[in-house]
Amino acid sequence: MTVSIRQIHPVFAGEVSGADLTKPLSPQQVAAIEAGMDRYAVLVFRDQKIDDDQQMAFTVNFGAIENAQGGNITKAHEFRLKQGMVDVSNLDKDGKPLARDDRRRMFNLGNRLWHSDSSFRAIPAKYSLLSGRIVAKEGGDTEFADMRVAYDTLDEATRKICDGLICEHSLIYSRGSMGFDQLSEDETKMFKPVRQSLVRTHPVTGRRSLYLSSHIGTIVGWPMPEARDFIRDLVEHAAQRPYVYAHKWRTCDLVIWDNRQTMHRVRRFDESVPRDMRRTTVAGDAPTTQQAAA
Ligand code: OGA
Ligand code: MN
Repeated sequence: MTVSIRQIHPVFAGEVSGADLTKPLSPQQVAAIEAGMDRYAVLVFRDQKIDDDQQMAFTVNFGAIENAQGGNITKAHEFRLKQGMVDVSNLDKDGKPLARDDRRRMFNLGNRLWHSDSSFRAIPAKYSLLSGRIVAKEGGDTEFADMRVAYDTLDEATRKICDGLICEHSLIYSRGSMGFDQLSEDETKMFKPVRQSLVRTHPVTGRRSLYLSSHIGTIVGWPMPEARDFIRDLVEHAAQRPYVYAHKWRTCDLVIWDNRQTMHRVRRFDESVPRDMRRTTVAGDAPTTQQAAA
């Protein structure tokens, strides 16, 4: 089967045909998907009835699976999915929706803020692959913003300010901004802020993008309120409707996004019924502050 990609949004995002993810892909298929990721930044695969092992096998075509440790407050004995899988559902270990005031649910609500996966890690993620096993009937769209366009459409003065800036990212900041600050001492230690460049250059295409995330709490060398105001303005700019692709989930969709050139968020949905979304994450290869910024 030959992979082909059709653009589904005026500025980015494509839908892939010619790939059956339940089976191993040929090197040509993998190369076509990677090239599609470089170009479209978000790719949608429809009707992929995969299990967790098939999802992980597909994922490693693009790099090593990221170690998920340190990215949430769920305890080891509470995990519903096996190692390598990130649980983005609203479910507990028994498959029941989490209670409204469950700490895990409140923490996961952070996914409703614009973010880039693992930007709170010293080496942040390359791709995320999200499989919709049970999707919301209404709401629950995942929205993506093209951060290359966000960078390209900045006015020149703002772009000059952005170039070279370093931000501090932490789950403490994203959750704190929602009023969730009940973190234990261990969690606070685990979520120690990391530094990331505000402007990234894509290693293959050479295109620059704004690296924004709700995990940003400050800019190195700036007073915090000034940094937050500046970042808020940038997020508002980046999330303008013409630059956003809203994915409406169908059962068995798999969506891949490039965290280096997009940010995303999930919209509100009915949490009294299961929404079973399972993610795999491809690890990045270097701290952003060591990647070419210019
Ligand atoms: C994620 C995420 C959005 C969603 O998987 O990284 O932010 O639609 N999920 O659940
Ligand atoms: Mn995410």
